[in-house]
Amino acid sequence: MNIDGFLDLVHTRRSIRRFKNEAVPEELLEKILEAGRWAMSGANAQPWEFVVVRDPLVKARVLDSWLVPNNEAYVIEQTRVPEIRHHHLRTPLAEPSFKDAPVLIVIVGDRRTYQATVLGANFLVTEGASDAIYLKNMANATQNLHLAAAAAGLGSEWISVNRPWGQALKKILDIPEILEVQTMAAIGYPAYKPGPSYRRPFEDIVHYDKYDRRKYRTGEEIFKYLVSLRQNTEPPYKQGLPK
Ligand SMILES: Cc1cc2nc3c(=O)[nH]c(=O)nc-3n(C[C@H](O)[C@H](O)[C@H](O)COP(=O)(O)O)c2cc1C
Repeated sequence: MNIDGFLDLVHTRRSIRRFKNEAVPEELLEKILEAGRWAMSGANAQPWEFVVVRDPLVKARVLDSWLVPNNEAYVIEQTRVPEIRHHHLRTPLAEPSFKDAPVLIVIVGDRRTYQATVLGANFLVTEGASDAIYLKNMANATQNLHLAAAAAGLGSEWISVNRPWGQALKKILDIPEILEVQTMAAIGYPAYKPGPSYRRPFEDIVHYDKYDRRKYRTGEEIFKYLVSLRQNTEPPYKQGLPK
């Protein structure tokens, strides 16, 4: 693959939030997991492990466990100004967008891998640095899974997992107490053609040789940006649903 092919992949990958109930070929799934395995990590700590959920009975328990902890997020969201409320959390939740995905990859992290990182990071970088390194490592593996899914012609959804849901998932999947459920990735064939996504313009975010202060955004500008982002983006969780 050359750089243009890679950029094409990066540009065309979309978060998918409705899936066909159609199996993912084993060979593709293994390649996606392999891409996760090969992610970069600080000091090569590799804190990730992947629990692949395909069994319909196990999947049903995972889906059932979603509603209650995720409705907590809905309640909290109502406390902020309506203009920037998350699309997903404007009405109470009913069912997970990934309910029909044939594969759920539960991305599990092991914080004991902190020890791979230079000890000084805990003291000399910034408060919470060891946490940050671990979380960056986990995000790298997750991103690799999503890019690989797109390269395989599949859709994927990055599913945030809050703490109470993570605890419930650990029980269902018999994940040892000391490990953490970080994120989930739903993988499958998209049930719809996704709309465009949005990124801030190239020239707004790239600086050469020094930070160009003309591009600096005040807090107020960031707030306006978030409001316009919400107004101008098609509510992602409604994509693929009848209008
Ligand atoms: C840290 C993180 C958390 C995310 N959480 C969710 C999530 O819980 N559910 C979801 O559908 N998408 C989630 N996403 C996907 C983003 O919403 C998505 O990447 C963004 O809106 C841009 O859309 P695109 O991926 O189609 O370009 C998450 C992405 C990241 C990096």
